[in-house]
Amino acid sequence: MPLPPVIAIDGPTASGKGTVAAAIAQKLGFHYLDSGALYRLVALASKNQCIDIGNSAQLAVLAEKLPISFENGHIFLGEENVTEAIRTEEIGLRASTLAAYVDVRLALTGLQRSFLKPPGLVADGRDMASVIFPGAILKVFLTATAQARAERRYKQLIAKGIPAKLEDLLRDLQERDARDSNRGAAPLLVADGAKVLETSDLSIDQVVAVVLDWYQSVIAQH
Ligand code: C5P
Repeated sequence: MPLPPVIAIDGPTASGKGTVAAAIAQKLGFHYLDSGALYRLVALASKNQCIDIGNSAQLAVLAEKLPISFENGHIFLGEENVTEAIRTEEIGLRASTLAAYVDVRLALTGLQRSFLKPPGLVADGRDMASVIFPGAILKVFLTATAQARAERRYKQLIAKGIPAKLEDLLRDLQERDARDSNRGAAPLLVADGAKVLETSDLSIDQVVAVVLDWYQSVIAQH
């Protein structure tokens, strides 16, 4: 039995990949993996348990047995609904620090691959195409300028009534980009064979349409 198809969507923070990946999964009736949420869950759980951010071995043990579940778009850590709690900038920065540890990444590999079930999967992250699903039928790398991404994040936060400063967001985002791109383990990069889409001047709907078009062409060639 051939494996179900995977669409891997990678890109830097706030490139819109989560929204795009979820929309494509919904349109195709595919499963959806938000791999960043897993790193954020380790960040939140380790913060709650006061695990030192420098203790990679203990963080990996925690990552290996995270009591997580996904239900109707909500994310649970044990009994607690942490859907919102994992989205703060603080947790994002902590996630990007611990994501640099090879043993943490290895501890999350099996869990990520377990999301691949029929009829298919849309997976978003930093290393979906390069490491987790190298056999993906379609590999997409979404980019946008740091300024455009900071503005998007700013609008999202303000719309939710969360106070934010554009210059702080831009600085955090550049810090996270640098860490994600320069780390030794699975750095953020354009995987071999990935199609790059610059989205600074595109709406979410336009990006979704382009990726769906690419998918239809790939399917037609199979
Ligand atoms: O995508 P998101 O911003 O939610 O991810 C949070 C952090 O988790 C990223 O900054 C990155 O360091 C890390 N991450 C990763 N590999 C992935 C997904 C996320 O290293 N596949």
